[in-house]
Amino acid sequence: MIGVVGGTGNTGRTVVAALQAKGADFRCLVRDPAAAAEKLGSDVELVQADVADAATIEAGLAGCDKLFLLTGHSPVMEAQQIDAIEAAKRAGVSHVVKLSGGDAIVQEVTDAKIGHAHWKVEEMLKTSGVEWTILRPAFFMQNFLNMADMVKGMGKVMMPMAADTPISMIDVRDTGDVAAAVLTGDGHNGKTYFLGSAVSTPSDFTAALSSELGSDVAFVEVPMEGAVGAMKERGMPDWLVDHQSTLMGIVGAGKAAGTTDYIEQIAGHPARTLAGFAKDNAGAFKA
Ligand SMILES: NC(=O)c1ccc[n+]([C@@H]2O[C@H](COP(=O)([O-])OP(=O)(O)OC[C@H]3O[C@@H](n4cnc5c(N)ncnc54)[C@H](OP(=O)(O)O)[C@@H]3O)[C@@H](O)[C@H]2O)c1
Repeated sequence: MIGVVGGTGNTGRTVVAALQAKGADFRCLVRDPAAAAEKLGSDVELVQADVADAATIEAGLAGCDKLFLLTGHSPVMEAQQIDAIEAAKRAGVSHVVKLSGGDAIVQEVTDAKIGHAHWKVEEMLKTSGVEWTILRPAFFMQNFLNMADMVKGMGKVMMPMAADTPISMIDVRDTGDVAAAVLTGDGHNGKTYFLGSAVSTPSDFTAALSSELGSDVAFVEVPMEGAVGAMKERGMPDWLVDHQSTLMGIVGAGKAAGTTDYIEQIAGHPARTLAGFAKDNAGAFKA
């Protein structure tokens, strides 16, 4: 039995779909089972649990031998994930698959606080005594969905980086396929997989989206101060504004352009393309 924490999020929903496609036995540990059932469907086994309360994670993992662990951005992610790994161990879980950050930010010394927190959790997991696999996805193509209102309202995508910035981008559905293969297969203990795909640029995205929508979507580089101001206006907490701007600075400097072929190796199919992402998600960008 596989326990999944984070199954209702962007990546987690794809992990759930890929585990369902494989007919795997799994259960999702969720904060709000009613809301989770709306997102995941009534045929997914759900148990109420919160990484802020390790006892609920330990109880929710009863009978599980594997855990997929993802909890999203949070200033308390490091402590909560470490608590969750310890709870998993107490529950008898023998293998933890942790969704981490990309290679560009997961480092011992980095300005990216979330990247450093992921690094600390990774290091704890490696010495925890359980088997482990770390998935480090590249920049999510799905990040562009956060800009859907910009496209609908103004016909443009604005980011604090150059239009031709090289970025390794990944469709989260590929992360789901890789995670499901790791959770149901053998040979992944002690491995860290950076899930990078073909290098694309922000203007490759607007070109692909323009072609899908049949109308021109412009890419506009904005100063970092403007991006920070817009995030604050949207009510983002300071720690998240700080994280996003640090991350955009690292990506904008071209430091997130690494590629690997782990998706094809592990999931058994080529990585999804930016053109495919634009095609499958065009509806979200239509006014
Ligand atoms: N965006 C990128 O380009 C990128 C690239 C590489 C790596 N990453 C990493 O990917 C992660 C974010 O992935 P995502 O976008 O899929 O996340 P997400 O959509 O924000 O989902 C977060 C999930 O964690 C669950 N969760 C949050 N707090 C919890 C708690 N206290 N107890 C139990 N569950 C909890 C949420 O459940 P609820 O339904 O209850 O909210 C949700 O299912 C981050 O760690 C980030 O560093 C991001």
